[in-house]
Amino acid sequence: MRRPAVLVAVVLAALLAPGSGAPVHRRGLPPGPRNKLLLVSFDGFRWDYDQDVDTPHLDAMAREGVKARYMTPAFITLTSPCHFTLVTGKYVENHGVVHNMFYNTSSKVKLPYHATLGVQRWWDNGSLPIWITAQRQGLRTGSFFYPGGNVTYQGMAPTLSRKEGVLHDYGNESEWRANVDTVMAWLTREDLHLVTLYFGEPDSTGHRYGPESPQRKQMVAQVDRTVGYLRDSIERHNLSASLNLIITSDHGMRTVQKAASDLVELHKIPDFTFQDVEFELLDYGPNGMLLPKEGRLEQVLAALQHAHPRLHVYRKEDFPRAFRYAGHPRITPLLMYSDPGYVIHGRYSVQFNNGEHGFDNEDMDMKTIFRAVGPSFRAGLEAEPFESVHVYELMCQLLDIEPEANDGHPGVLRPLLRSGSTPSSWPPPVMGMLGVALLLAKAV
Ligand SMILES: *[C@@H]1O[C@H](CO)[C@@H](O)[C@H](O)[C@H]1NC(C)=O
Ligand SMILES: *[C@@H]1O[C@H](CO)[C@@H](O)[C@H](O)[C@H]1NC(C)=O
Ligand SMILES: *[C@@H]1O[C@H](CO)[C@@H](O)[C@H](O)[C@H]1NC(C)=O
Ligand SMILES: *[C@@H]1O[C@H](CO)[C@@H](O)[C@H](O)[C@H]1NC(C)=O
Ligand SMILES: *[C@@H]1O[C@H](CO)[C@@H](O)[C@H](O)[C@H]1NC(C)=O
Ligand SMILES: [Zn+2]
Repeated sequence: MRRPAVLVAVVLAALLAPGSGAPVHRRGLPPGPRNKLLLVSFDGFRWDYDQDVDTPHLDAMAREGVKARYMTPAFITLTSPCHFTLVTGKYVENHGVVHNMFYNTSSKVKLPYHATLGVQRWWDNGSLPIWITAQRQGLRTGSFFYPGGNVTYQGMAPTLSRKEGVLHDYGNESEWRANVDTVMAWLTREDLHLVTLYFGEPDSTGHRYGPESPQRKQMVAQVDRTVGYLRDSIERHNLSASLNLIITSDHGMRTVQKAASDLVELHKIPDFTFQDVEFELLDYGPNGMLLPKEGRLEQVLAALQHAHPRLHVYRKEDFPRAFRYAGHPRITPLLMYSDPGYVIHGRYSVQFNNGEHGFDNEDMDMKTIFRAVGPSFRAGLEAEPFESVHVYELMCQLLDIEPEANDGHPGVLRPLLRSGSTPSSWPPPVMGMLGVALLLAKAV
């Protein structure tokens, strides 16, 4: 089902590609002139959003650079977990940012997405994101609205950072351009080497009106104009030859079933009662977590487990391993998800959004985009799909920094690069072979 056959193919291609045993190893030397990197995320940009909208600027970027057919996000397909996977190269169970919401099962505190952006201990949970790793190796970095980019990690924050206000209007196109101008100044005047730039669209519009709505299409056209503005700005600032640009996203979007006769409603399930529950995180799209009261776990599990054909409830230890999600101490003893299109209603049935994400990352509607252009990238390449967990290793190669331990493999996205374009010889061939062996092992 979720066999990474494409990855095997890509890794094999990497090993067979000329130039994979490339020249000068510069790691460990003081920073000199090197290519810069701008990572841009347009939240909730589903992989196929450019297929029913005219997107001349994204199309031009694909001709001049690399376009993946699609990218598979991490599970849970929520904003903060998926963005953190991009900047750490770890699956969610290994980085610990398991939800958009900070929660504490003892104090019962739950904080919404925006408040959680500022909770240092939610993010700084043992993994170092790429900003910090790059800075420890002498580079300067910045984060503009990127989730996780506005807190300190083991005492260090990105060199420059911006956090959006609590009632931020995510769709203001003139503000988008002003933000691009700021980032250009960061890359030139402030001489940052790495900047991550986040836009909250087309996610907001996709939620509100649904992914098939005319409003979503208009927003994708706005994204495309912004890509044009961004690339013109790069040119105008004389950065085209020295800046690699990646445009990607965190997850896709799916139309919510609202009128179906088989909605998933926990409050209607016989034998299930919230009186058996100590702590719950529900009514957040298709995902839920439960901490049953002392001695009630079996009872709650029995009541829920086969209660609804579209609801999948597991003991933490039995949650499907392929999701790479449940193996973190923050995950509650019981967790659940529902079928694509169906959200989980907890104590009440309320659903305002017409679009949601959070579903199985193998659902095509959760797949997202990956595009890249710049001096290190090949031109006119359409790459086979890959998992977002590999983007971190690619970024470390582009910046010529030593990565932290992570779940990605450096060989997977190496075929996207021009041969000889990264100055280090990582990975040595033997590591590549090991990677292939591991991937093959995973595939059976
Ligand atoms: C969770 O809440 C408990 C009880 O209030 C507190 O002792 C603990 O430090 C909290 N943990 C975190 C990570 O905030
Ligand atoms: C991660 O957070 C949990 C609480 O959510 C805490 O118990 C644990 O010690 C933290 N681990 C690290 C390495 O910060
Ligand atoms: C967060 O962003 C604000 C600007 O929006 C900045 O003043 C502050 O220093 C940042 N904090 C961290 C820890 O990066
Ligand atoms: C949009 O952003 C611009 C630039 O930040 C600001 O001047 C303008 O007032 C904003 N428009 C709205 C409708 O908020
Ligand atoms: C543009 O950058 C190149 C080197 O990357 C430099 O030689 C050239 O002088 C720059 N031009 C301007 C107008 O700054
Ligand atoms: Zn998102």
